[in-house]
Amino acid sequence: MHEFHYRGNKLYCEGVEISRIAEKFGTPLYIYSRKTLSDHYRKIAQAFRSLKPLICFSVKANSNLAVLKVLANLGAGMDVVSGGELYQALKAGAAPKKIVYAGVGKSKSEIAQAVREGILFFNVESLPELALIDQVAGQLHKKVNVCLRINPDINPHTHRFITTGRVLNKFGLDMQTAEDIFLRRSIFSNLNLIGLHIHIGSQITEPKPFVQAIKKALRLITRLKNSHVALKYFNIGGGLGIVYHREHPQTAKEFAAAVLGLLQGTGLKVILEPGRFIAGNSGILVTRVVYIKKTEHKDFAIVDAGMNDLIRPALYDAYHEILPVIKTSRPADQPTSRPKYDIVGPICESADFLAKDRILPNLQAGNLLAVMGAGAYGFTMSSNYNSRLRTCEILVEGKRFFLVRKRETYRDLIRQQIIPRNLR
Ligand code: LLP
Repeated sequence: MHEFHYRGNKLYCEGVEISRIAEKFGTPLYIYSRKTLSDHYRKIAQAFRSLKPLICFSVKANSNLAVLKVLANLGAGMDVVSGGELYQALKAGAAPKKIVYAGVGKSKSEIAQAVREGILFFNVESLPELALIDQVAGQLHKKVNVCLRINPDINPHTHRFITTGRVLNKFGLDMQTAEDIFLRRSIFSNLNLIGLHIHIGSQITEPKPFVQAIKKALRLITRLKNSHVALKYFNIGGGLGIVYHREHPQTAKEFAAAVLGLLQGTGLKVILEPGRFIAGNSGILVTRVVYIKKTEHKDFAIVDAGMNDLIRPALYDAYHEILPVIKTSRPADQPTSRPKYDIVGPICESADFLAKDRILPNLQAGNLLAVMGAGAYGFTMSSNYNSRLRTCEILVEGKRFFLVRKRETYRDLIRQQIIPRNLR
């Protein structure tokens, strides 16, 4: 499933001891396994091979250039949602004709940038956005491809913050509006309306919501066909769940088995946009215990990573497994019961925790801990809150490891700031 495992009492990533990397680069730090990234990409590619889909990695999950490059080298396209993500996808060597661009708030300059770069298509989320892309395309004398993102109003049974395909969410067009736009498509003279896009949410563990959403979209596609609107692409989005704790998510094979029958024979080129499935279990956050603080009510392990490094527990109450990087054997004079810890960071917020009430071996200051499943929405959601420096990132490949992002320095904190002359 992933390449983080114990050999004896030491946690390894592929062929490298985690503690060796932590000693060399300091903590906190993110570590990614190239093999796990590649394996997960191949699992989806293999499961869907009969359709020859375009698999666009969702850059928001992990935008490190080396990670993107690993995937681009395997033939992956990229799903981007901002000018910054587009810039990085291109810098990592992704082919423009394999890049799709979603998001409800694309600005005029971002649209122009993507049109100039010649991306495959935009996933359009509203009528005013469609009109703006048409206008920009006209100004740049280009004919631009767009898919309409529909909101199929399906409950994906996941956390409410990562549910996107319900009518009260800001995403996509309602089915009727989308149909009307397709039927009146000739008014957008600089656009080719060539496909449909759905993405109903993230960390979805069962195939049923996907099947329901795809069926709804296919009914629209059939209605359009009957009205002589022929589409070329069907983008079924991302959202495949992974194991963080005790989930039993569908495998890529099971997901494919549930949806392939619906997609085969449509004649449409299928696009997938997995993020978490590829990157989630390919990365960990390594942190060091700074203090053990015992109170009457709780034992806290205060560590050097905080909510600014990994916000998922604070934001979604997300569960990440915590493993000791080196398993220590219990000294004879210690009680047999294993203590429970809250693993908390140094930030001045009560939401600054990585894990709560975890039964772990006795911890001491200086111990290294691995926060598992941190390869997706980990570093990309990190910040400088409390003026903390963003971590470095390491890519492991067999017995070798590479620094793929340097740790920030204090200079980085003030680099873009200006004290007005009258205050000097
Ligand atoms: N396509 C679109 C249009 C998306 O909005 C997303 C994710 C994806 C694909 C990739 O979804 P995935 O395969 O990774 O589930 N920060 C949250 C997740 C937010 C997902 C946003 N959209 C978290 O940490 O759980």
